[in-house]
Amino acid sequence: MRNLIDIVDFSVAELKELMDVACDIDMRPENYRERCKGKKLATLFFEPSTRTRLSFEAAMLELGGSVIGFSDASSCSASKGESVADTAKVISCYADIIAMRHPKEGAPYVAAKNASIPVINAGDGGHCHPTQTLADLLTIYRQKGKIEGITVGFCGDLKYGRTVHSLISALSRYNNINIVLISPDELKIPDYIKEDVIDKNAMTYTETKSLEDAMPSLDVLYMTRIQRERFDDANEYERLKGSYILTPEKLQNAKAELSILHPLPRVNEISVAVDQDERACYFKQVLNGKLMRMALILKLLSETDIEEKREADVVKNKIRCSNPRCIVSVEQELEHIFKPVDKANGIYRCVYCESQSIEKENN
Ligand code: NCD
Repeated sequence: MRNLIDIVDFSVAELKELMDVACDIDMRPENYRERCKGKKLATLFFEPSTRTRLSFEAAMLELGGSVIGFSDASSCSASKGESVADTAKVISCYADIIAMRHPKEGAPYVAAKNASIPVINAGDGGHCHPTQTLADLLTIYRQKGKIEGITVGFCGDLKYGRTVHSLISALSRYNNINIVLISPDELKIPDYIKEDVIDKNAMTYTETKSLEDAMPSLDVLYMTRIQRERFDDANEYERLKGSYILTPEKLQNAKAELSILHPLPRVNEISVAVDQDERACYFKQVLNGKLMRMALILKLLSETDIEEKREADVVKNKIRCSNPRCIVSVEQELEHIFKPVDKANGIYRCVYCESQSIEKENN
């Protein structure tokens, strides 16, 4: 079974194949109108979403398939205490493919391990959001004609912004990408992304608090919302929420061919006046998201006989994950599974949420 849990589940060649199919769907939609006839997509949204859920639904309907699902955790059996694993097994009897959004990190991975149909991660906590990355990549590709040799600025909540994490992972596999990380100190990119993605792939990057300083060098500016729902302290959110507001004035020293992206929803971080600027690409990004989800559904439904091996060389139940946002923190029966990233220094990561654990010798 092929799933899309993390963007690195797909190779660069596969991402290109998805982009080509998405462009073809855009040009010749009539060729795709019956491709999923008789197939059902289940949208299991345990966390609020409008655009991602409707994007999946529109994608499946435009392929001739149908959709079942829920958009509110309180209306499903999870509110009665059902585990993610059981939900995945049950839905496998009703549908052909699952798109799951969940507030706990790693929940879609648990679903993929237990479902007998493909599972797509539609966002798990502050961890990752690979289908938004598909939308982002197609937008960059269509605007720039390539995804190489560009400088991409990420601005805002780089700590909890799961779309940022997934897009950086994806970009790390393309050549000559330069990254500028623009955030307040409190919302810097998590260490695991810096160490396992940016450093490991020798990506060049700089960190700054100033959007104005970064602006002239950027080919792409990826603005993000400060993720209120992930803050433990409401005062901290209030203090940080106005950190960056993109206005036409701030764009004065930007490149003429800059592309401004935002996964949406926007709160106040891009002023509405910027929408008139031809460099604003965030509504094109929404259309690209639907096209890529169509291409993704087609791909996963055609590769159900491929076997994925995700858990080679893992350590089970010897290390415990202490991340309160990880799915293992609420589902007591799940095994705690860690994969080694640097055995010599005893560095392991949780397979669900990627939290790091350092194990001392003889431990
Ligand atoms: C993003 C998300 O859910 O992480 N939205 C989306 O999927 N379009 C970004 C956000 O909520 O800020």
